[in-house]
Amino acid sequence: MRYFCIEKEFGIDALQLKEKAVPRPGPGQVLVRLRAAALNYRDLLVVRGSYSRTLPLPLVPLSDGAGEVVECGEGVGLWQPGDRVMGTFFQEWDGGAITDEVPKSALGGAIDGVMAEYALFRERGLVRMPSHLTFEEGATLPCAALTAWHALESGAPACGQSVLTLGTGGVSTFALQFARAAGARVIATTGSAAKEGKLAALGASDIINYAAVPEWEKTVWELTGRRGVDLVVEVGGAGTLGRSLKAVRTGGQISLIGVLTGATGEVNPLPAVMKGVRIQGIYVGSREQFEAMNRAIELHGIRPVIDRVFPFAEAQAACRYLESGAHFGKVVIAI
Ligand SMILES: NC(=O)c1ccc[n+]([C@@H]2O[C@H](COP(=O)([O-])OP(=O)(O)OC[C@H]3O[C@@H](n4cnc5c(N)ncnc54)[C@H](OP(=O)(O)O)[C@@H]3O)[C@@H](O)[C@H]2O)c1
Repeated sequence: MRYFCIEKEFGIDALQLKEKAVPRPGPGQVLVRLRAAALNYRDLLVVRGSYSRTLPLPLVPLSDGAGEVVECGEGVGLWQPGDRVMGTFFQEWDGGAITDEVPKSALGGAIDGVMAEYALFRERGLVRMPSHLTFEEGATLPCAALTAWHALESGAPACGQSVLTLGTGGVSTFALQFARAAGARVIATTGSAAKEGKLAALGASDIINYAAVPEWEKTVWELTGRRGVDLVVEVGGAGTLGRSLKAVRTGGQISLIGVLTGATGEVNPLPAVMKGVRIQGIYVGSREQFEAMNRAIELHGIRPVIDRVFPFAEAQAACRYLESGAHFGKVVIAI
């Protein structure tokens, strides 16, 4: 089987394409022939070496993959060969609140991921793919979609409420789709004029170009009748949080997810205090949440937004494309 790994050195160009024997599943394990993997911003951080200093090397990167069950180890009762499945981002977060143990089972970080033709999963580290999706579409769900789902679920925008999304990456486009399915109004930002029409086509009612309007929080304020949005899906981090705090309504929520503008910087916490804003950290989600999301995706016939699919041999080009920020939605690798 072929697989990519970070061996000793970090960097997209240092990714090694290697071969080894297909592994056999042990007790409680399931062997999956992966058919597609999807890239997340986090994978860029991992590959560049800026995610964590304690990554176990060599490491197979990428968390998000979909494929078919090939063989089940002793004691596996949930799966049969031929089942169409996706791996869970955290192999050991079945449900309930996050614990200290959960991050130790993150695919493509703490443990080997899915940039490979075959991978072994824990039995409950897999979920069934929504039946209307292709493998390429299914591969986009484990991290970006589940994070967006969790962000909305915890903020629970009701029909008619408003959600603010930032930029047009994987998490934000899924958040837009889920918020629209829930009947919420979506105000979306982008730094690219070319992506504005795509946001409108996905159902955003108002689009603000943050490159042209750096003080976009003022526009959000006006668009909501000087009330603020009910929920912000915050993927920007230190560079956007201060503005998000001004754009959210009194008593609203900020689901804190990402660090696209960096993790450190000065943020004035006073608006959060004075407006009683709930700031909720979101770290992907559990298997239970993944299954709830899949039911909603099936019910609403939601199809992930895929910008481009690269062949396996061109995985490095896929990483560079994600790095360019030219994409709208997800970048996928066919395996
Ligand atoms: N906490 C978690 O569990 C979790 C899970 C998934 C992702 N994340 C984090 O969430 C962030 C987004 O991840 P992703 O995979 O969705 O990223 P992605 O697909 O790579 O998204 C990149 C897009 O973000 C937009 N962007 C860049 N700078 C921006 C800015 N200053 N303001 C607003 N938008 C900006 C750009 O869209 P435009 O071209 O439209 O401007 C860019 O194309 C990352 O920091 C990632 O690490 C966290």
